Amino acid sequence: MKVLIVGSGGREHVIAWKVAQSKKVDKIYCAPGNAGIAEFAECVDIKAMEFDKLAAFAKEKEIDLTVVGMDDPLVGGIVDVFEAQGLRVFGPRKNAAILEGSKAFSKDLMKKYHIPTAGYENFTDSEAALAYLEKAKFPIVLKADGLALGKGVLICQNLEEARAGVQEIMLDKKFGSAGNEMVIEEFMTGREVSVLSFVDGKTIKTMTSAQDHKRAMDGDQGLNTGGMGTFSPSPFYTEEVDAFCKKYVYQPTVDAMAAEGREFKGIIFFGLMLTEEGPKVLEYNARFGDPEAQVVLPRMKNDIVEVFEACVDGTLDQVDLQFADNAAVCVVLASDGYPVSYEKGFPIHGLEKFKGSDQYFVFHAGTASKDGEIVTNGGRVLGVTATGEDLKQARANAYKAVELVEFENKYYRHDIGKAIDEA
Ligand code: AMP
Ligand code: GLY
Repeated sequence: MKVLIVGSGGREHVIAWKVAQSKKVDKIYCAPGNAGIAEFAECVDIKAMEFDKLAAFAKEKEIDLTVVGMDDPLVGGIVDVFEAQGLRVFGPRKNAAILEGSKAFSKDLMKKYHIPTAGYENFTDSEAALAYLEKAKFPIVLKADGLALGKGVLICQNLEEARAGVQEIMLDKKFGSAGNEMVIEEFMTGREVSVLSFVDGKTIKTMTSAQDHKRAMDGDQGLNTGGMGTFSPSPFYTEEVDAFCKKYVYQPTVDAMAAEGREFKGIIFFGLMLTEEGPKVLEYNARFGDPEAQVVLPRMKNDIVEVFEACVDGTLDQVDLQFADNAAVCVVLASDGYPVSYEKGFPIHGLEKFKGSDQYFVFHAGTASKDGEIVTNGGRVLGVTATGEDLKQARANAYKAVELVEFENKYYRHDIGKAIDEA
């Protein structure tokens, strides 16, 4: 088989690495890819939002399956464009990717189908939002409706901050058209867990759990980022939590989408908060998490291409999804100054030390090839993943592996997975 992967980050690198292990695959392309993905795949210089060019490429190369890693093209309808041309593609259509593309939609869906989530109101009018805030309890959460690179969520401690938030999102349009509508939501407390799942329209199979660290600095200080590190499994995701979510969250979400005429095929990522009242949905994403995929996929035993195909064909009920009884930790190596401003273009040394290891992995997020060298080319540069018998071992291994790579302004958090000590 020939497989095309759409995307260019650490998530697409781990997808490509996993696809490369499939017995069914003999050629992988990635558009646009990155310097790490180039080890497994032929990288093609087409951007993820150039749907017609991508579809023409898939036709020309007789691609058997296209896998879309990123949210923007999914929400923009890449799957519809491919399907209209008779191309096989893994991911939700536009009318289903709205589960991630519109927070107002996802909140209304959860309300209608009684899926546990924080109380909320949606607003398209800033005056109405401001009036609502006058009577609200604080802290309170403001969310831009659309895609905002994970940055469209503001937690406001008081009325003044919330007023400034409405101004930023709806009037100054800090997140562009994502702020045409806004969700105002009750603030919840508890541990966060990410659960990724495969969905074929009817059947859902969840993967092992993970936890992300979104803030830039140790102790969850600093600004929100795309994710500074992950661990899997989450020791807080107990059998009881799993049983609750199976009954009230996972299948109900898939059934709700089908009932709305928006059959969902692809990945649903459940962002959960384990509150005192039980698990509640923080958000849905319509793709693998980044860097959740970097700890979940290295633990997956199945041939991922078989699972992708089962989702496309509607035969996921016949798949026995299995994960190793071990643990994994991913520490993101970033450029100092991320997520605000940082320098790039520094040579990266030591990548060859990971070659051939089945315990240490380095996934490229923001790298480029320049004059025969691999150089830093983004805020998040690499995700270093290590496995271990248990979480403590995996964490020790990951922090050892972090020392194998050097570049000039290397920055990382030192407390990824610290929460496991409290489990
Ligand atoms: P989201 O993009 O919706 O996952 O939000 C980003 C982050 O904001 C989450 O991972 C939480 O840490 C936080 N957050 C979102 N919604 C709430 C909420 N209702 N209560 C408390 N924290 C929240
Ligand atoms: N790690 C969070 C996300 O991928 O959205």
